[in-house]
Amino acid sequence: MLDIRQICAQFPALNQQVNEQRLVYLDSAATTQKPQCVIDTISHYYSQANANVHRGNHSLTAQATSQFEQARQTVTDFIGAQSTKEVIWTRGATEAINLIAQTYARNTLKPGDEILVGEMEHHANIVPWQIVAEQTGAKVVKIPMLPDCQLDLDAFKQQLSSATKIVAIAHITNVTGTRQPIEQMIKLAHAVGAVVVIDGAQGVVHEPVNVQTLDADFYVFSGHKLFAPAGIGVLYGKLALLEAMPPWHGGGKMVERVSFAATTFSQLPGKFEAGTPNVAGALALAKAIEWYQTFNHKQVEQYIHQLVKQAHQGLSQLEDVRIIGYQPNASVVSFVVDGVHHQDVATLLDQQGIAVRAGNHCAHPLMDALGVKGTIRASFALYNTQQDVERLVAAVEKAVDML
Ligand code: ALA
Repeated sequence: MLDIRQICAQFPALNQQVNEQRLVYLDSAATTQKPQCVIDTISHYYSQANANVHRGNHSLTAQATSQFEQARQTVTDFIGAQSTKEVIWTRGATEAINLIAQTYARNTLKPGDEILVGEMEHHANIVPWQIVAEQTGAKVVKIPMLPDCQLDLDAFKQQLSSATKIVAIAHITNVTGTRQPIEQMIKLAHAVGAVVVIDGAQGVVHEPVNVQTLDADFYVFSGHKLFAPAGIGVLYGKLALLEAMPPWHGGGKMVERVSFAATTFSQLPGKFEAGTPNVAGALALAKAIEWYQTFNHKQVEQYIHQLVKQAHQGLSQLEDVRIIGYQPNASVVSFVVDGVHHQDVATLLDQQGIAVRAGNHCAHPLMDALGVKGTIRASFALYNTQQDVERLVAAVEKAVDML
């Protein structure tokens, strides 16, 4: 059994008043709060172990380098990659997708090639493809969604052709929590010779991932949605793909030998890691993963799904509240209040100590498809409680009455 009280006690940020009420944090899909052990890892690194990595030979740098590479091993095991060479540190999922676009895609795409991108994607999994399409003459093609916010798999099958070179899709979407059929999509895409980029920013938090079983070509995620700090993320790529890709950022440590005549590049993973990396972030991400793995994953997800179901039931009964794209077994619930601007509702919730995200959630095409300007999104993690849901529903009811 999960001891939720004990879990909550590990998150100092949850133990505060906002607008004179106990904070109810329902914005974990934007960023999770951090457990004390992760905060301690960062604090310990900067107070006692700070040194650059893979540079110099004093004791501190040797220790930092060893821990930094151990963190890479933790991530490698966590996602079931074959080798640490397949795990590249980035600033986050967004940077990882841009790296793939500007190295793999920019060097392989030709005019007329197609990049298939889901309609419900976050801008981070749309715009980098538009940029590289502009640079190469390739075309970004939308994979449509169905009215229930599921991917239109039949349309996807029809769209696939020998022109399809890349398929970019979220594991779990950020606005409705739709779990995309990535296993089927990967198989279908591979059958036409396309590579598949999975945006795992939301997915890696809510499902165990094994990139080898999935047969994903690329899988990216951010630390900050996984109880780690912002500014650290991961690009997983199949070894053969990463080896064939040219570097992106140039600088220190991504080179073997530099001269004005010619420069040769480091082996993986260093080839893609120019400049001093976010050592504390990598260590903290490894700690966050270790911490999260102490829980029974199924229990955590069942618990979160119950909360979302409770929120869905409570909100559905309120006048003028319309749930958007509800997915059972998701960790989010998005809704609108008819006739009221989403920001006004969110402001009134904030005044009652409840943190939600309101807006377009960096998903304009999805908002267009839904015919709304934005939604209010409550997103849940294992530190939320039934009382949090009760507070949310009561606060929305009050907000609707006031507006
Ligand atoms: N992608 C994050 C969200 O959905 C920021 O809120």
